[in-house]
Amino acid sequence: MKIFSNPGEMKHELSHCKDREIGFVPTMGALHKGHISLIKKSIAENDITVVSIFVNATQFNDPEDFKKYPNNLDNDINILEPLNVNYLFAPEHNLLYNDNYLYRIIETTFSKELCGAQREGHFEGVLTVVMKLLNIVNPRRAYFGEKDFQQYKLIKGMVEAFHMNVEIIPSPTIRENDGLALSSRNLLLSGEDRKKAAKFPELLMSGQSDKEVNSQLEEEGFKVNYIKTLNGRRFGAVTLGKVRLIDNVKK
Ligand code: PAJ
Repeated sequence: MKIFSNPGEMKHELSHCKDREIGFVPTMGALHKGHISLIKKSIAENDITVVSIFVNATQFNDPEDFKKYPNNLDNDINILEPLNVNYLFAPEHNLLYNDNYLYRIIETTFSKELCGAQREGHFEGVLTVVMKLLNIVNPRRAYFGEKDFQQYKLIKGMVEAFHMNVEIIPSPTIRENDGLALSSRNLLLSGEDRKKAAKFPELLMSGQSDKEVNSQLEEEGFKVNYIKTLNGRRFGAVTLGKVRLIDNVKK
């Protein structure tokens, strides 16, 4: 696996692969089985797979959340090597944000709902960094998890809006045995909260109304950000201790 941190060098290297199909999996690292499922899908469907690891400061509305986001590049490299990933792109902040974040991608409607309603500027940061990464890697296909369904939809919409030459491919949510969706943030849960966390997907999947799910979660000690059914999918975001968890299930 070749590792690049300079966007210009990464772009130059991949420009030699024009006759081969590139699959791309953007991540923020602390890799787990959810990320690995996207990477395996990309490897199966493309000639070359590029994974990026970049903890994107602009999408964190809470600086504390950014500071404590798990970060272990050496461990991630050990996970990626045996999977036969061709390239790891781990850009430096200042080189990726060469404009100092003066230029941004904004979606005006769906990005203001659900996670966007509570996390000011979150999707602006996500869409901007994904646009930058797609322009550097120039993949034929890019893979996103349904665990972050709103993010997937917004990225798909951006690619259509800007007539970009990349297929955005969704991939199903990978869960722990007790139903909790895998997330890098799960590492931050205390032992007791980790046990309790399984109630969140369990109630999202239940036949109860959004309102009932909301009040049951609160009774269990979760702080509920939102529980909302939209277009046949129930979305939820909760905080347990100081850890924010999101999930969604098809209804
Ligand atoms: P991150 O949270 O690291 O997730 C990277 C990709 O893995 C996303 O597409 C996410 O939906 C997917 N993923 C995470 N947990 C998953 C699970 N349990 N099952 C299936 N897929 C899962 O999402 C981001 O990073 C960032 O916002 C990013 C797109 C990289 C932009 O900074």
